[in-house]
Amino acid sequence: MPVAARSNDETRKRELSSSIAALAPWFHNIDLNGVQTAPEHFLGNYPGDKFARFANIFPADLTGKSVLDIGCNAGFYSVEAKRRGAARVVGIDSDDRYLAQARLATDALGFTGVEFRNLSVYDVAALGEQFDLVIFMGVLYHLRHPLLALDLIREHVAGDAMLFQTLQQGAREVADVPEDHPFFEPGTYTPPAYFDAPGYPKMHFIERKFAGDWTNWWAPNAAASQAMLRAAGFTVEAQADGDVYYCRVAPVPFGQYGPTAVYPAKGGTSS
Ligand SMILES: C[S@@+](CC[C@H](N)C(=O)[O-])C[C@H]1O[C@@H](n2cnc3c(N)ncnc32)[C@H](O)[C@@H]1O
Repeated sequence: MPVAARSNDETRKRELSSSIAALAPWFHNIDLNGVQTAPEHFLGNYPGDKFARFANIFPADLTGKSVLDIGCNAGFYSVEAKRRGAARVVGIDSDDRYLAQARLATDALGFTGVEFRNLSVYDVAALGEQFDLVIFMGVLYHLRHPLLALDLIREHVAGDAMLFQTLQQGAREVADVPEDHPFFEPGTYTPPAYFDAPGYPKMHFIERKFAGDWTNWWAPNAAASQAMLRAAGFTVEAQADGDVYYCRVAPVPFGQYGPTAVYPAKGGTSS
């Protein structure tokens, strides 16, 4: 590299490093053309290493597609969607500092036109739009009302597919559950034993902290993740790395009895 070009590159890297430092700490380590945003991440190269373990279920080609990244953080998955040709990418998060990180990262990588907005998952109706792919990674367990969030995503923004991930705890096995649950085993006053089976869908409620973080409220087992996705009107088409699910929009069970989401659609087009 000629001396002048090398000096320009060093200046660019120095300026970028100082912009990154001004927005620290970062939860996403993103490689901004030779400058990393979180090289000392406590989970290693995160989420790059995790992504490598489920990249096989992330659509390889998103040419012309619209993508909504809910809880986008510093935009790692928004960037991956752009890399795969997505025509429209909207990232939403409830934290302005993370949104500023996402803007810095996409600008530094030269991805123009990615829209980042401060919007809670509970208010996705305000987007007034359905997306070909919704990315809902790493947010569910931070919510006090997780099934409501899935219902709202299904009702207002999920147009076709959803990539979903959650913290999980407990059994990885998935038990077959009956279509209907009797109070008692037939002919007895004994409650059915299967509620205590490891593979029965269970949400573990975290009253205090998980890994030192008080914003973690729930940890489903694998059966509960899958059952909640189905209950919200998604079919699971693929699973990778234990806790990542590629889902497709499906009819909402019991939908014939009325809408499942009872949260007011603030700013939305439907009531
Ligand atoms: C563990 S990070 C996951 C980030 C990214 N999706 C990933 O999988 O790496 C959780 C993100 O969700 C955001 N978040 C938490 N509650 C939210 C809410 N109600 N609506 C939108 N984003 C939320 C946080 O600010 C944070 O950026």
